[in-house]
Order: sequence, then structure tokens, then C-alpha cells
Amino acid sequence: MWLWGEEAKVLKTMSPSNSSQNNTERGSWGSRAGFIIAAAGSAVGLGNIWKFPYVAGENGGGAFLILYLLCIAATGVPIMLAELALGRKSKRNIVGAYKHFKKGRGWVGMGWIGFAAAFMILSFYAVVAGWTLAYLVKSMTAEVTAFHDPKEAGDYFQTFAGNTVEVLSYHFAFLFLCATIVIRGIKSGIQKWCEFLMPSLVVILILLMIRSLTLPRAMEGVAFFLKPDFSKVTSHTVLIALGQAFFSLSLGMGIMVTYGSYLDEKHNLLSSSVIIALFDTMIAVLAGMIIFPAVFAMGLEPSAGPGLVFHVLPKVFSDMAFGPIFSAAFFALLAIAALTSGISLLEVVVAYPIDELGWKREKSVVVIASLVFLFGVPSNLSFGLLSEVKLFGMTFFDLVDSTSSNYMLPLGGLAVAVFVGWVWGTKEAEKEYLTGCCKLAPPFIKIWEILICYISPIAVFFILVSKLVGE
Ligand code: PHE
Repeated sequence: MWLWGEEAKVLKTMSPSNSSQNNTERGSWGSRAGFIIAAAGSAVGLGNIWKFPYVAGENGGGAFLILYLLCIAATGVPIMLAELALGRKSKRNIVGAYKHFKKGRGWVGMGWIGFAAAFMILSFYAVVAGWTLAYLVKSMTAEVTAFHDPKEAGDYFQTFAGNTVEVLSYHFAFLFLCATIVIRGIKSGIQKWCEFLMPSLVVILILLMIRSLTLPRAMEGVAFFLKPDFSKVTSHTVLIALGQAFFSLSLGMGIMVTYGSYLDEKHNLLSSSVIIALFDTMIAVLAGMIIFPAVFAMGLEPSAGPGLVFHVLPKVFSDMAFGPIFSAAFFALLAIAALTSGISLLEVVVAYPIDELGWKREKSVVVIASLVFLFGVPSNLSFGLLSEVKLFGMTFFDLVDSTSSNYMLPLGGLAVAVFVGWVWGTKEAEKEYLTGCCKLAPPFIKIWEILICYISPIAVFFILVSKLVGE
């Protein structure tokens, strides 16, 4: 324990940028663009591609998009800013960040909730990501592009998901990929790979969009997705938009705290948050421009989630000229989106033993990634061997997913908003935001204070309550 005190004294006497340079296990971002690309990589995930378009289409199209942007501005950006500031100020992982401010054990407990949420989400995210890797390989052999109807594609998926050895191998492969990137550290691992993966994602997305929009009846799909219908916007829609904004920006579990902790004081947190949020929304909109034109062109019914990706789209690709190529491109897109989110989740968990227990990065990555894999095995088998095993009426996969995404994430987000707005205090937080930034006019500061002290916590509180009462 005494080492802690010594270390704190040493850190205090060094300038912040020196402190991160000297802590070689922690590492730091190589450039501003590198950080933004990595954080955008975390935000852009399966949620953008398989959830957002459908949710938008079902809930008023363009009207939902306007509402979603408002939610991003009113809660997403303020909470992201709060997480980044907490991370940069403390230069610690999510648990260590709360410890740093010494505001009581309850807050450190909130850090643990974020830590546990990241661990649990990664454990089942890796299962789904493993499926996308498998479908990428299977597209190349045209195995998943010869279906006569979505039901046939669905049956195929069911059989595949129940094949224990195969799905466990892909699940392992995904975590192995995440681990090999994270083990190289922040600059030469996460940043370098995101700088390669994210532009690839954008190129694939644009090529697929051109293909989709040039199919016959494509415009019907665009209309389903974007035609504004304000009559569909209700208070329930607001909650859906809020929840989606929150999940899509990867908030509530300390990803932005951890990524922020590798930033130096010259960095403009304000503009970065806005860029990341806009980029994330743009990718979600582009994904909708791929999916619905293609689904409508083939005369199929739109849906979301695994049903869309593993039942409907394989049938779409089966009907398309050069289907296997487009199918491979689409699953590569999903796998890349999942990989850049997976590495951010792994980094949150890996950062704790590095910062707090003094572990070497290699040891931390190997131990944590192995534990995440083992914990994910029952989630994986929920679609096969353990499909009949129910806890609280749910399969293991559903239980881990619902506990972490529905309750722990909003709780973690609520904690950040209340902590920064009321405990650490807006004045201190503002000093941190404005370092490396600009002079904000007083009205803007006031707006931000209102957002972080009142609007964001109330909004996230309502997400939590809506989940508790089953929406
Ligand atoms: N933001 C990711 C998405 O949109 C999901 C995610 C959530 C990733 C939480 C990491 C952590 O799919």
C-alpha cells in the first residue's frame, strides 16, 4: 500500500504528459486523429449496423433520426465528455479513476460496475462476433448464399449455432484477435489497427451502399428508413432513441474513461466528442442505406438483430449477382465493426490490473482474455447444448446480455453524470474540458452545466426505470 502513496507523490510532481510517458505499461495515443479513430471504432459496432436502421425505420424514419440527434446532443455528448474528462484527469482505468478522486467507497463500487459490465458484454459480444467471422469464411465458399427463403437460411443458422466445436473455435478466434491487438499497447496496437480497420470499414460500407442503391425498388427501402413520420414519435420512442444513443456511443462502462486516460492535456475533448458522435451516427445512417434498399429490392420483410443478419440478408445475397462477394464484404464489415468495439471492451478490463496491481500488459491481456473466454462459453452454448438451461427464465446468454446492457450500463452512465455534475463538480470538470480547448462563451458553459447536472442524469434514470419495468 505504501507504494501507492509514493507513486501518487511522484506523479504529482511530474507534468501530466510526462507522467503518462514514464508509465510505460500504460502507454498513450500517438496522435489526436489516432485517438478519435479508435474511439469511433469503439462506438461503431453491431448496434449501428443491425439495430439502428430497423429501429429508425419502425419509429418514424427521418423523424426518429432528428430525435436521435437531439438525444445524442443532450445526453450522449455531455456524458462522453464527462467520461473523457474523468479519464484524462485521473490517468486511470474505470475503477482507479473513481479512487483517484477519493469521494468514497460507493463511487469506487460504481467503477466496479462499469468494469464488470465491460467484462460481461465482451463475453457475449465475442460469441456474436464469432458468428460474423464464421459467415465471412462461409461466404467465401458460397455456403451461405444459396438459400431459397429466409426460413431455410434461419434453419441453417440454427444448425450452425448448435455446432459446439465450430462456434467455440470462432468465439476463441475473435478473442484471440482482440488480444493480439491489445497486447501491443495503445499506440502500436489499438491505434495502429484502428487506423487500418476503420478506413477499410468506410470503404466497404460505401461500396455496399452503391450496390444496394442501384438495385431495382431500392427507393422503397430508403423511404421505409428515412421518410419522416412524426405521428410515430411518442414518449416511448424518446426512450428508444435515448437507449440506442447511449449504447451506440459505448457509454456507461468506462470505455471513454479508459481511452481518455491515454490522452494528453493538449487534446480538445469537446470537439473530439462531437466528431465521434457524428461519425457514429453517419455510419448508422449509411448502414440503413445498404440494408433496406437490398431487403426491399428482393421483396423481403425488414427486421433487426440476428434475424436480419443471419436469416434475411443471406437470402438477399442468395438472389444477388455475385452474391458471395457482397456477402463476404458485408460480414467483413460486421466483423471489423465488432473487432474495433471488442478491443475497446478488452482494454477497459485489461487496464485495471495494469494500473492497480502493477501487472505487465502481456500478463494482464492473457489472463483477462482467457477469463472472458471461459465466462463466455455458457453464453455460446446457450444456442446449442445449453439451450434448455434457464436461469430466471432466460438462457445464460440472455441473462448476461440483459443484466449488463439493460441495468449495469445505464447505472454506470448515471453514476458518471451524477459524479461529474454534483460530486467532482462542474467547475473542476470545466477546467478539465477547457484545457487544450478554447474559451467557451458563458451561455454554452451554462447549457452544458444544465445538461450534465439535470438532463443527462434524468434521461439515463428513465432508461433504467423503463428497463426495470420491462418498457
Ligand atoms: N457501441 C457499440 C455498438 O454500437 C456497442 C458497444 C457497446 C461496444 C458497449 C462496446 C461497448 O454496437
